Amino acid sequence: MVTNKEKLQKLIRDKLKGYQVIVASNREPYLHYMREGKIGYLRPAGGASNTLDSILKACGGTWIAYGSGPADRKVVDEEGKVRLPPEDPRYTLKRIWLNKEEADGYYYGFSNQALWPLCHIVYTRPIFRHSDWQYYQKVNRMFAEAVLKEVGKGKAFVWIQDYHLALLAKYIKEQRKDIVCTQFWHIPWPNPEAFRICPMKKEILEGLLANDMLAFHVRYYGENFISTVEKEIEARIDKEKTSIFSRGHETMIRAFAISVDFQKISQEIDSEATQERARRFKEEFSLSEGVKIILGLDRVDYTKGIPERLRAINRFLEKYPEYKERFVFIQMGALSRVHIQQYRDLNDEINELVEQINWRHSTESWSPIIFVRRTLSFAETLAFYRLGDVCIVSSLHDGMNIVAKEYLSAKNNLDGALLLSRFTGAARELTDAVLINPYHIEDFADKIKLALSMPKEERVERMKRLRQVIAENDIYKWAGKFVNETAKTLKSLRRG
Ligand code: G6P
Repeated sequence: MVTNKEKLQKLIRDKLKGYQVIVASNREPYLHYMREGKIGYLRPAGGASNTLDSILKACGGTWIAYGSGPADRKVVDEEGKVRLPPEDPRYTLKRIWLNKEEADGYYYGFSNQALWPLCHIVYTRPIFRHSDWQYYQKVNRMFAEAVLKEVGKGKAFVWIQDYHLALLAKYIKEQRKDIVCTQFWHIPWPNPEAFRICPMKKEILEGLLANDMLAFHVRYYGENFISTVEKEIEARIDKEKTSIFSRGHETMIRAFAISVDFQKISQEIDSEATQERARRFKEEFSLSEGVKIILGLDRVDYTKGIPERLRAINRFLEKYPEYKERFVFIQMGALSRVHIQQYRDLNDEINELVEQINWRHSTESWSPIIFVRRTLSFAETLAFYRLGDVCIVSSLHDGMNIVAKEYLSAKNNLDGALLLSRFTGAARELTDAVLINPYHIEDFADKIKLALSMPKEERVERMKRLRQVIAENDIYKWAGKFVNETAKTLKSLRRG
């Protein structure tokens, strides 16, 4: 069983021997920027990105991604390549350059205004522009060309990450059937009724079915996918194997719940550096002793239920004014996709809500909400979790939600409570969290009270059980399952 990084690395070396490993994702693992004449880099937070980085560090290979960092071009060779990680190079990042129209059409357009709202049921209407679709196809082809060039004549296994690259496997297989393609669909897959409005549905399904394996976070999304395929295209479903045959090709459908590095977080949360950072946060936000801290940590995205969370805080204060001055809700919001109108509108809505709620309930020395627009590094995120007596995850729909799992991993002292939306993938495993329906503001407000007033023994008991779930299903186990299933695919391909 894969329980740590070393075991995962060994598994990869054993099982994928002889195969060149290629990862393809929209978001790159390292972004380069320039500050005061010096080049620096940052790592976008996120479980999948860290794990894929570990995998490539173990077996070498190439990661192909859109080069979106402001100084990305300054560090690459003439092929757009840079060796990573910068301090101890083990693999190659090949950056794909997109001009403004391509980025607008493929990333802001089809990926994030069509597929993102189509797959998240949050009542934000998807927009299917023909020109976005054309750019989406074009950029997927660019990725395919980069993969094929990289592979040359050898054997390769390509790990395709997420919804930006739904056509990549198809474009690769058109040239080279023997290249093993597996895709992880990191967002929900909606029910067939929701998906059927998509004008490009056949092409997208055919694109995904070119993979040898297609994986989702939870079985329910896989079932939705299978039902969608049954309704939309000609295919044969093998229920026993959970696979789909279409156009003479078999695709395994699997579910692997992404997780976090439980051990690492559990250890680092108590480090001197984390404690120091937590102290600095307390100073920066004037968080006084004895005042309970409720946390929120999200990309500012309309799927995350941030306005609902703010309304619930408001309702909580209306119903239970005795809690005034006894808690503070501090929300870190990383700005995201702001070229898209809905994201700008959401930012305005949040500003207004924070202003109104604070105005309404604040006292001379206290305001209930602190909203900070900032992207935290991983180390800062840990310090932030350290402070939280309660953490709220109120997504309206979410493939998994890593914040919930990170927060629990960080609560070494077993003292904390998680309010978790029922509409996250994580809620299927984390049944001991205080589960909420973020649309039900009245109940949400009561659940905030429940979390703040829960007796210590109950908090500890729940926390123990929740942490156990993550300890037993951490990020290495996730990647291990993925690699093991891929290895089975390789075997059956060899036989075929
Ligand atoms: C979601 C998606 C990821 C994406 C991340 C951040 O988790 O599933 O693929 O990378 O959001 O969004 P961004 O658009 O900034 O990459």
